Amino acid sequence: MKRILNIALLFAASITMVSCFNSDKPNYQYMPNMYEPVGYETYGEYAVFENVTGGSEAMLPAEGSIPRGWQPYDYPNTNEGRDLAKAELTNPLPVTQENLDKGKEMYAIYCALCHGDKGDGQGILVKNEKILGIPSYADPGRVINDGGTYHVQMYGLNSMGSYASQTNEEERWQITMHVMNLKAALEGTPPLEIVTPMEDVAEGIATMINETESHEGEEGHEGEDHENEEQH
Ligand code: HEC
Repeated sequence: MKRILNIALLFAASITMVSCFNSDKPNYQYMPNMYEPVGYETYGEYAVFENVTGGSEAMLPAEGSIPRGWQPYDYPNTNEGRDLAKAELTNPLPVTQENLDKGKEMYAIYCALCHGDKGDGQGILVKNEKILGIPSYADPGRVINDGGTYHVQMYGLNSMGSYASQTNEEERWQITMHVMNLKAALEGTPPLEIVTPMEDVAEGIATMINETESHEGEEGHEGEDHENEEQH
């Protein structure tokens, strides 16, 4: 009888222990701070932020903040802004093979489907009649130059979208450089002249200096030896 009672007790105890067990959640949390952070959760809602953001922990950057690696772009998204960009803005990057190659690569990704690999306005979407009105870069009715090309990448133009979120400033100028070369090829004028990048020039000078110094060094050693000899 006692045994049966014991078994029944054990049974009841295990039922009680198991019955409230939820396999999705641990019943006991050891070191709960590992699971429930003391700090604010990203995008969490907290009373302390009510007056600042309406409760959300996430805040907008302070007005006038500039993301790292970005420059403010002062030309407004208007026809006047575009004209002004065309008149004033020029490509700040040196014409190097590297910049041209990168520009070409990105042009193939972002622009060629409408403007065509050659920039003649015959991209795949035009050939498939999915889009109309793509100008050739050699269109004499348009002044297509550095500033204008950069400007339309920033804001887009009618059915052309903005590329400001897909590309950074340097990339937009690299694309612009390639566009200028395409335009030159279409118009039959010579391509942009490639300059030797300053780093290469500097490197060249450094090598020259090093060579001279190592020569001088040799002589210097000889001089020291002589001095030593004299002292002896
Ligand atoms: C969806 C198709 C499409 C894509 C992709 C596209 N464009 Fe355009 N682009 C257009 C159209 C359409 C126009 C003519 C807009 C107008 O004048 O109404 C245009 C116009 C231009 C002009 C002439 C602006 C002017 O001042 O007249 C330039 C330069 C240009 N695009 C460069 C680019 C570059 C660079 C890229 C890639 C970063 C690009 N486009 C991607 C459709 C496109």
